[in-house]
Formats: sequence, structure tokens, C-alpha cells
Amino acid sequence: MTGNQKIIVKENAAMLAQKATTLFRQTAKESIDRQGRFVVAISGGSTPRRMYRMLAEEPYDSAIPWDKTYIFWVDERCVPENDPASNFGAAKKDFLNRVPVPGDQVYPMPGELPPKQGAQKYQKVLIEFFNLKDGRFPIFDLIFLGMGTDGHTASLFPGHRTVDEKKRLVVAVKGGDPDVNRLTLTLPVLNRARQIVFLISGKEKAATLKTVFEKDQSRFPVQKIHALDKELNWLLDRESASLLK
Ligand code: 6PG
Repeated sequence: MTGNQKIIVKENAAMLAQKATTLFRQTAKESIDRQGRFVVAISGGSTPRRMYRMLAEEPYDSAIPWDKTYIFWVDERCVPENDPASNFGAAKKDFLNRVPVPGDQVYPMPGELPPKQGAQKYQKVLIEFFNLKDGRFPIFDLIFLGMGTDGHTASLFPGHRTVDEKKRLVVAVKGGDPDVNRLTLTLPVLNRARQIVFLISGKEKAATLKTVFEKDQSRFPVQKIHALDKELNWLLDRESASLLK
């Protein structure tokens, strides 16, 4: 990992969520001041759910310019929206159904389609939204990522060839927990974001985090996330950071 990295450790999961929600609000404001809109990609998993619920609560809800906010997904499990494993389904319950974001500014990944077709469709959606010329990649204002104990991030799993994808924006992959077909943004997309925020909590992540920071090699997919000249924030709780020096 290179670039402009910051590690922020919070006492517990609630304070971690508060910090993440504050970052969401700040980045939304800055992006809208700069370019009139805020484009964010969010992850699944359990860690960000506390932040998602906070987004729909005060003082955050009314401070976020939802009418200029556009929401995309980092990854999705190929299950129906009402399946408990659906990232979109969870986000709807946690905040999307409770905040005034216009429905046509929410871009779930098409988890209901056959995986390859879903990946192609979402890639098209990105190309149109960002008005991309051939071979270009979108630049998100903010991307939230998580990390698994195996060092995966998004749905980019260790040893899987999707980690080496250089051209496509979205790919289909099978793996993870739950071990299902998934859609995921690729590294060239993730690494171009203006700001990346990792949200990591719990003692079960501590040993993996230690390896991530101590070993200067790309052993885990999470180590292939580079801030380049942009911002990479590691938001950790005390438990997940417990083995870091
Ligand atoms: C997904 C993810 C995945 C997640 C990590 C951490 O499975 O949908 O986006 O990359 O962020 O597995 O998940 P937890 O927060 O549940 O530990």
C-alpha cells in the first residue's frame, strides 16, 4: 500500500459508526460544493450497518443533501432483494427507505440476473452515469470498503483471478461467506476513488490487520487498495486495532 493513508482508531463500534457517518456527511458537502453532486459506493457485510442506520437519524439525516446524492454498490450477492444476504435489501431497511434520497439516484447491482449478465449490465450503468469514453474508469467521490478475516475486500477474494482484472469495471465471482455468486467492482475502479474508507471492527480482524500493515507485500486483496495521490482512511475500532503497533 502506498499514498496518503490515515489510521483512525475509535474506542468501540458505535464511535466508529459515528466517525464514518460524519465522514459521509462531510464528503457529501465537499463534493457537492465542488461539482454539484455526491457519488458514493457502499459495501455489504455487517460492520457498516450501524453507520447506515445512523445516516437515517438526526443530526445526520437532515444535514445530508440527499437530493444531490447518488448511491452505488461496491459488491452484491446474487440473491433476491428480500434475501437476508442481499446488500441492497439490508441497506433499504437500514437507511434507504428512511431518508429522502430520490429512488432514481439509487443504483443497486442487479443481483437477480445471471451473474455475468448482471456484471455487464452494471458496467453499462456506470459507463452511462459517468459518461465514460472507451477504456476509462469512473471516479467515485467516496467508497466504503470492509475487510474479511481472509484479507478480502469488496468481493475480491485471495487467489481469485478477478483480483488481477485490469479492464472491466464490474465482474462476477463466486465465493465468500455466504458462498454465493456475487458481483463486484474491480480494483481499477476502487483505486480511482477520491476517497476510500475502510470500516473494520471486532477482534477477529486483528490478526489479519497486523499482517496487512506489517508485511510489505500484496498477500491479501485488501493490500492492493492504494490511495495513490488520494485519501485512504482506515477506520478501526480498538479491538480490530489491538495488535497494531
Ligand atoms: C460483502 C462485502 C465484504 C465485506 C467484508 C467484511 O460481503 O458484501 O462487501 O467485502 O465488506 O466481508 O464484512 P463484515 O463487515 O461483515 O465483517
